[in-house]
Amino acid sequence: MLITFEGIDGSGKSTQARRLVERLEQAGYPVLSVREPGGTALSEAVRRLLLDPARPVDPMAELLLFSAARAQLVAERIRPALDAGHIVVCDRFYDSTTAYQGGGRRLADLDWLHAFNRRVTGGLVPDRTYYIAVSPAVARARRAGRMDAPPPGGDRMEEAGEAFYDRVVDAYEQLARAEPDRILRLDGEQAPGTLHQRIWADLEALLARRYGTLTPGRG
Ligand code: TYD
Repeated sequence: MLITFEGIDGSGKSTQARRLVERLEQAGYPVLSVREPGGTALSEAVRRLLLDPARPVDPMAELLLFSAARAQLVAERIRPALDAGHIVVCDRFYDSTTAYQGGGRRLADLDWLHAFNRRVTGGLVPDRTYYIAVSPAVARARRAGRMDAPPPGGDRMEEAGEAFYDRVVDAYEQLARAEPDRILRLDGEQAPGTLHQRIWADLEALLARRYGTLTPGRG
């Protein structure tokens, strides 16, 4: 089962992904936890290329680099883990490309990206996507408050500006409306503990439907 987390920088999605992984491990599930871009030697190298504020990247090059990192991650780690029966939790997946490169960079229409993304993953679609929705203003304030934020702004994506993030959010909202069975939209301005409980309740129901039991090894 493939679970992904989505949202803009500062939405709190990485915290939620981490908490979910811990909870799954406590319940005894075999879990692979990865983040995008990254997770393989090639993908980490691409990540450094992409996020360095000192290096300009053309939008089409950006789309292809994020996608190259993803193709490698799917082939090298996600597919084998799924085949071995693991639950894979991925912090960002192809909806980030649709939102950031399609919406933010205005690179392509969403239908084209939809087809392209599926080619990149070899047809792999998340079983559930948790979209943590926050306004760009809230996310910006949270990013500014982070102790580890490199001054003055952040990575190259975080320097893209307000209108960019408005378009990213619009694209995420459009995606959530288009695929309500896969994408669960969650209010990211509620307390992290409340949000986690909501996610866990949803996933437990999904796991029960899929495996017929809440605890692995007993059914
Ligand atoms: P990261 O530091 O991992 O940010 P976060 O903690 O918010 O996930 O940096 C990833 C950045 O790359 C983030 O700004 C989103 C962006 N991104 C894209 O633009 N397209 C993509 O396909 C992916 C996976 C990420």
